[in-house]
Amino acid sequence: MKNLKEKIVWITGASSGIGEELAYAFAREGAFLVISARNAVKLEQVKRKCLNDTPRCWVHPFDLSKTNHLDELVRSVLKQTGRIDLLINNAGRSQRSFASDTPLEIDRALMELNFFSVVALTKLVLSGMIKNQAGHLVVISSITGKFGFPMRTAYSASKHAVQGYFESLRAELSGHNIHVTIVSPGRIKTNISLNALTGNGTSYNKMDSGQQQGMPAKVCASRIVRAIKKERKELLVGRKEILMVYIRRFIPGLYHKIVAKLNN
Ligand SMILES: NC(=O)c1ccc[n+]([C@@H]2O[C@H](COP(=O)([O-])OP(=O)(O)OC[C@H]3O[C@@H](n4cnc5c(N)ncnc54)[C@H](OP(=O)(O)O)[C@@H]3O)[C@@H](O)[C@H]2O)c1
Repeated sequence: MKNLKEKIVWITGASSGIGEELAYAFAREGAFLVISARNAVKLEQVKRKCLNDTPRCWVHPFDLSKTNHLDELVRSVLKQTGRIDLLINNAGRSQRSFASDTPLEIDRALMELNFFSVVALTKLVLSGMIKNQAGHLVVISSITGKFGFPMRTAYSASKHAVQGYFESLRAELSGHNIHVTIVSPGRIKTNISLNALTGNGTSYNKMDSGQQQGMPAKVCASRIVRAIKKERKELLVGRKEILMVYIRRFIPGLYHKIVAKLNN
């Protein structure tokens, strides 16, 4: 099992939900943390809690969808840390709108944050990992990166894109001692549905019943950290909803019937 003590771990989207719980879980392992998201006040609160368990936690507030400026962010992080051992691409936003009610600019915004910012940040961090011949890239996809779901057209597309990108990247990196873990959560109890984008560009602002009954984010985070320590290539994490991945693969007719009746 990988020892995470004093490893430098950069977690995006650490101001809430899965990312916040990942920060606490990595802190308990004695990792040194870099945490980023847009909400600087919340990041400072997360940092204070992390410092109970680890001596180092650097806060870097940033809007990751500004992909043209990510090189400045990476430069300022590396100035403080010198290197990144693990990059946890977790920041993301879901969607709650039918395709017919969703203008292309919303589809692009979801792809920009959930896919292009992840790719851009990964490339900027990867060069250092290749130089060091060591590193671990983690991406938080979704079970909707494995199958389609109503009201998630662009979100599901962005998470499918992430799966294809990191699966291919893993193959390219096989000779470099750089690991790639793709995490596909099911329903995790976070604010994801509240923060989801609607067709008019505002937040959905409702807690979905599925989310409400989902796996606690703390349990999800501890499963993710365990998978990372075992250098697992893939992790499906959640409750009974993750069965849909297998239903889609092995009984596609049943999947098509179930998914057509779902709405959130
Ligand atoms: N919860 C689930 O059921 C579930 C299921 C499958 C996959 N996931 C994935 O898990 C990841 C974490 O989601 P969550 O459930 O923890 O939701 P969440 O509580 O809404 O957290 C999302 C995080 O992403 C950050 N973020 C959003 N837009 C950003 C931007 N433009 N720039 C920088 N950071 C940004 C948010 O911080 P700020 O608002 O401070 O920027 C927040 O820290 C996402 O990638 C999501 O797609 C979640």
